[in-house]
Amino acid sequence: MEKRTLGPSGIQLSVLGLGCWSFGGQEGDYWGAHDDRDDAAIIAQALENGVNYFDTAEGYNDGRSEAALGRALAGLRAEAIIGTKISPQNTEPAALRQHCEASLRRLGVDTIDIYMVHWPITDYPVADAFATLADLRAEGKIRAIGVSNFGPTQLAEALATGVPIEVNQLGYGLLNRIIEFEILPVCRQHGIGVAAYMPLMQGLLTGRWRSADEIPLTRRRTRHFSSDRPGTRHGEPGAEAEVFAAIDGIARLAEAQGMPMADMALAWAAAQPGVTTVIVGTRTLAQLDESLAGIGRTLAPDVLAELDRLTQPVKAKLGSNADLWQSGANSRIR
Ligand SMILES: NC(=O)c1ccc[n+]([C@@H]2O[C@H](COP(=O)([O-])OP(=O)(O)OC[C@H]3O[C@@H](n4cnc5c(N)ncnc54)[C@H](OP(=O)(O)O)[C@@H]3O)[C@@H](O)[C@H]2O)c1
Repeated sequence: MEKRTLGPSGIQLSVLGLGCWSFGGQEGDYWGAHDDRDDAAIIAQALENGVNYFDTAEGYNDGRSEAALGRALAGLRAEAIIGTKISPQNTEPAALRQHCEASLRRLGVDTIDIYMVHWPITDYPVADAFATLADLRAEGKIRAIGVSNFGPTQLAEALATGVPIEVNQLGYGLLNRIIEFEILPVCRQHGIGVAAYMPLMQGLLTGRWRSADEIPLTRRRTRHFSSDRPGTRHGEPGAEAEVFAAIDGIARLAEAQGMPMADMALAWAAAQPGVTTVIVGTRTLAQLDESLAGIGRTLAPDVLAELDRLTQPVKAKLGSNADLWQSGANSRIR
């Protein structure tokens, strides 16, 4: 498995990362109930196949994702790179420290490899939060500092604190190329690695749904879908026609190339300059196997060009607002 290096910490991440949002899940959580035995088996198989990056957050299933990851990694810690995230409402310095300690306890580790601010900070001084993160790094509680869902202005603010930002975790995939407008170039310019999340657009890029009506309610709240759909908050018309035209085109191209659509989507994400790791939400061993196969594929230049052409209309319709759930006026990403 190819490894790619982050900034000053020199941490090497496998190009396929394991998204652990579903871990520790119970009935009623976003991804539903998840058995500890499944988590342990997925993690063992991932490590065996060279996946070293495991992504979680204090906010996933009320901390149960971190705890499940910690249990599954018991005895395997040395091989793993753990990334977790602090919620922005917990970034007041004293709270940040407490929440970092709580994540360490749940994960059962002395050091978090990559500690990210999950969404931009709105309620507290950014400089204080990053100074606290730098202190935690100096104390050995975290190894690298990162952010997630930060736009150009928010990145500039964070960088102005002088604290090195090693990674920005961002939604990125064939159906969500918004970061290409502004954020990705800024990350490349500053040597900030990009951890691409939702590369399969939560299953859309597996081709299993051919119309919006078939998609589970929670997964059709993004700006891809019309605001007439229940649970949406963006108030926009969406891009449903463009999305399903792109899916049809990608499915045909994948078939012609003799590979599953999900493989093509993962290989595309891994091929984008600036991407350090592609984080896939994995709920079963079969999905992990499939993703391992996909990430190992190389797409020819003409295939990459065709995928660019097929997904341009979705990119154009979604525009440069990188918040998939909110309108431009209410965007949390600036
Ligand atoms: N920083 C942030 O704000 C943020 C936001 C979202 C996600 N993330 C991170 O990114 C990770 C990935 O995002 P995500 O899970 O939301 O989206 P995703 O990776 O695009 O989609 C995951 C879903 O796709 C399906 N799937 C996965 N692998 C497959 C395969 N090989 N073949 C067919 N279907 C497959 C599964 O759906 P089924 O379970 O229905 O089969 C799985 O639950 C998360 O676990 C989390 O760590 C971060």
